[in-house]
Amino acid sequence: MLALLIVALLSGCDGAYSILDPASTSAAIAASFWWGMFIWFTLVLVAVVVLWLYAMARKGRPQQDATAVRQGRRWILGGGIILPLVSIAVLMAFGLPLGHRTLPAKESPTMGIQVVGHQWWWEVRYPDAGVITANQLHIPAGEPVNIHVTGEEVIHAFWVPRLAGKIDMIPGHINVIQLEAEEPGLYHGHCSEFCGLLHAHMAFTVRAHTREEFEAWLRARQAPTKLGPAEHGIAADFQKYCGRCHRVAGVSSGTEGPDLSDVGSRDSLGAGTIPLEDGAILRWLNDHQSLKPGNLMPEHKGRVPPETLEAIAEWLETLDP
Ligand code: CUA
Repeated sequence: MLALLIVALLSGCDGAYSILDPASTSAAIAASFWWGMFIWFTLVLVAVVVLWLYAMARKGRPQQDATAVRQGRRWILGGGIILPLVSIAVLMAFGLPLGHRTLPAKESPTMGIQVVGHQWWWEVRYPDAGVITANQLHIPAGEPVNIHVTGEEVIHAFWVPRLAGKIDMIPGHINVIQLEAEEPGLYHGHCSEFCGLLHAHMAFTVRAHTREEFEAWLRARQAPTKLGPAEHGIAADFQKYCGRCHRVAGVSSGTEGPDLSDVGSRDSLGAGTIPLEDGAILRWLNDHQSLKPGNLMPEHKGRVPPETLEAIAEWLETLDP
């Protein structure tokens, strides 16, 4: 019965955001530590419950003589002070060295990525390559990558459960966490520090590629956006209505909102709010305040002519370097 209950509870532990399905050494360390804690504290719980049942089942009034009082005191000292002290000491003896192994390597890896948490999206920069994107990280698989994180206006936390622990993103301060995906694949991350109304709408993805694929991904984003003959007018409209907040490489340079240079290549819009399917960008531009209520982009109705908005949406969908 208990086993069934545990299986039922643990079935909620797999999936894209599970620390119990690690895909890196660092995450495997965290998972093994979790299991150690789970087993040890389950044993403590069972022991306490057994003792409690035993005490309840004992017949007669409790004895009040000196021996009984001494015995009772021994239980209180043992269970209330010594057991917790031993538990915490064991936890630290295992936890500290394990935690140390998840710290960024001393020799800096070949590549660093900067991630800034905004209300409520992720700015992602590859400073050496001069590439900016948003709400997605792309990394090479099988090698450590240092992620330098900070927050823009409030504290956020960067967390990719299958790849590493959490790290706070604090305004005015830079923290470093190391990600290393063993295999190429898609991993999911989420803000894990309450950062305001739309904290729950602050997801991102991490795609790990082979080295060659990763370099091709980066190279494709280093060139300014190519504009076809018919697209110069749309790009000018974009610059006029959207460019003060959004950057598109070679077209506009706003930094208030997410960079849109490769928006057509992403998995989702609004930091994981809706999947990026055909027509999703226009839907987002028209309904973003009902899809992600309270986001900081103003309504477009009455400000941007509908046919212009439609043309901009169609053009943004093609931005897939
Ligand atoms: Cu950002 Cu919670």
